[in-house]
Amino acid sequence: MHPLALTSILALGSTVFAAQLTQVSNYGGTAQAKPGMWVYVPNQVKSDALVVAIHSCQSSAQKYFQNSLIPWKKGADGKGYVTVWPSSTTECWDVSSKSSLTHNGGGDSNAIANMIMYAIAKYKINPKKVFVTGGSSGAMMSNVLAATYPELITAVSLYSGVPAGCFFSASGASAAWNNTCSGGQSISTAQHWGDVVQGMDPGYNGTRPRMQFWHGSVDATLSPKNYDETLKQWTNVFGVSTTPTSSKKDTPEKNYRTDDFGPDVEGIWAVGVGHSVPSHLMVSEAWFGL
Ligand SMILES: *[C@@H]1O[C@H](CO)[C@@H](O)[C@H](O)[C@H]1NC(C)=O
Ligand SMILES: *[C@@H]1O[C@H](CO)[C@@H](O)[C@H](O)[C@H]1NC(C)=O
Repeated sequence: MHPLALTSILALGSTVFAAQLTQVSNYGGTAQAKPGMWVYVPNQVKSDALVVAIHSCQSSAQKYFQNSLIPWKKGADGKGYVTVWPSSTTECWDVSSKSSLTHNGGGDSNAIANMIMYAIAKYKINPKKVFVTGGSSGAMMSNVLAATYPELITAVSLYSGVPAGCFFSASGASAAWNNTCSGGQSISTAQHWGDVVQGMDPGYNGTRPRMQFWHGSVDATLSPKNYDETLKQWTNVFGVSTTPTSSKKDTPEKNYRTDDFGPDVEGIWAVGVGHSVPSHLMVSEAWFGL
């Protein structure tokens, strides 16, 4: 046989057997909200970790998965971990209603927690290796999940979000946009933002997810002020100072600054970058310990 013919047969074979993004139709749980659950299990599973990748507004699990700027399929193939891709039924994630801003409140956060529990059982995930990431609305949801399901999540790396509770809707609307917060006018004390987190899962006193958050200094969609408010929130929850314990210029790349607030909170401030802070797969994976 001509060697090229063999090559094309092998290429065809790998296409046929290649892992694919697959929908899980019934992930269980009692949440009223029913976002879709999609899973990508790489061909070679080499890790007992789970990464949950949460899309932005006007997107879906499939669009986010196929987006060449979103690196989590590549990460899954490279390091062999399972990824879950929730898919919202609304334009943006519900990070505004009480049902989503409360532990077991029945909203989107509850449904994503149900997906995580399903995945832990089904794919034999180590419950101490559950990681959450997302951009924009997905970043907001990452903060909300960290606040509502701290017992389920090990670490978070989110890109361009707002503090948990910042998109609160006074009228109780679900998946509502909040101009005050997006515009950078929801400015409060660290104590207030910490109390907002405590209030989402009252009485919880166990370990909490380590938080890494990225934000661009010229973000025109979600005001850069939300970076400071997010750092006030999580430093308060961890009981550490808002003054960094270490600050590294031009890290992880030129014009980015990495600020650590002890081992559990890290902010990455991207000078001159807008709303779409590029995902830094290796930096996020390192934060997760992958
Ligand atoms: C927007 O969110 C803030 C908290 O960040 C809240 O005080 C305000 O009531 C919300 N606005 C609306 C219209 O619900
Ligand atoms: C933490 O919460 C558990 C369960 O509610 C409770 O039994 C325990 O006393 C609490 N521990 C502290 C240090 O507050």
